[in-house]
Amino acid sequence: MPQYEHQMLCRIAEQPLTPVVDFGMQPLGNGFLTENEISNEYFFRLQLGFSEESTLLQLLRQPEPERMFHNQYPFFSGTSSVMGTHFQTFATWVIDSGFLGDDPFVVELGCNDGVMLKHFASGGIKHLGIEPAENVAEVANQNGVMTISEFFSESLAESVLERHGPADAILAANVLCHISDLRGVIKGFKKLLKPNGIIAFEDPYLGDIISKTSFDQIYDEHVFLFSAHSVQYAFSLEGIELIDVQAQSTHGGSMRYILANRGAHKISSSVEQTLRQEQKQGLHRIDTFDIFRINIEKSRKNILAELNTLKQRGALVAGYGATSKSTTILNFCGIGPDLVEFICDTTPLKQGKLSPGMHIPVVSHEFFQQNPPDVSILFAWNHGREIMSKESAYIEAGGKFLTHVPHVHYV
Ligand code: TMP
Repeated sequence: MPQYEHQMLCRIAEQPLTPVVDFGMQPLGNGFLTENEISNEYFFRLQLGFSEESTLLQLLRQPEPERMFHNQYPFFSGTSSVMGTHFQTFATWVIDSGFLGDDPFVVELGCNDGVMLKHFASGGIKHLGIEPAENVAEVANQNGVMTISEFFSESLAESVLERHGPADAILAANVLCHISDLRGVIKGFKKLLKPNGIIAFEDPYLGDIISKTSFDQIYDEHVFLFSAHSVQYAFSLEGIELIDVQAQSTHGGSMRYILANRGAHKISSSVEQTLRQEQKQGLHRIDTFDIFRINIEKSRKNILAELNTLKQRGALVAGYGATSKSTTILNFCGIGPDLVEFICDTTPLKQGKLSPGMHIPVVSHEFFQQNPPDVSILFAWNHGREIMSKESAYIEAGGKFLTHVPHVHYV
């Protein structure tokens, strides 16, 4: 078991966390940088802790939010067409759910470029996006989505309530798992939500992360890895209950949690079913993470073995998708430009930069097409299906995709 300099407390239960996995020193997952910035690169120790009281798996420490979400934040949800469709379906579900009152008000935390809220905006539904990354919020506003660039907190909830009134629905996708002050966020939700309103949020699901050994979901931004157990515990402290859970295929396996004020709505049988399934999988038990740690080690060994074999054969190996997830794989395994020559990514803000920590050049998709690698490591494995169909010509010409999820293999 790794040693820690002092005991950290669960951000929800305020009980000591038990350290369970240690990834060592890691840079920021999205900290793509230039040659000149290398000497000032920021590193922190990436370690997971588990609270047996709240069952919440979480980072022991997280860099300050301003380091991670700023006006150069390079992630735009709208760049993936599958994600675009997913958020349209999410919006339609909310609109048709029967939970919205007359003349509803919908709030979304971390609305990114407006990929989901634009469907409310186009339907003339009163909405507000709250997006801390200024450059991304600007794009949302340009897309006709009313957005303020702020971090959500209890006090921001009070000011939104004063200016716009209570919310029928508070939404978030891949956002709550990023916010260290979850307790403050839940208190803010409680204040902002109408008595009959709903909270609907989704995040990568711990059950999938454990079953697929997708340890790359663990990086600075993901302070929490939620399960139905831990979500139920955290919200119950403010009198909010879980009324439905819906599994999603996005981000390699996510869960959508629907919550409401206690007693406001009927509870779906899916909640009990999922809690039972989680007990079978052991998501509420600390010894589950001993097995997780062993599986992560196996994955590291197998990834390195395959890359070293490819190197010996003189194969050109590149990464596909300069994802924040890949930062954990590359740094934890110690994979640099000697094993992976470049990483291609469609995001202009990442191109021309170096990957965090291991400094592998990030290039455009055109570069990839002009220099097709023998093997591409599918760092954006969660978009695998979309990428496979886009790259049929590369595959037909003999190009191969390698992934580590759920074990190291060629796709
Ligand atoms: P995500 O896994 O956090 O959604 O990030 C996906 C990254 O992969 C993002 O930087 C965009 C990139 N990407 C491509 O370069 N090509 C693609 O076809 C897809 C779907 C994503």
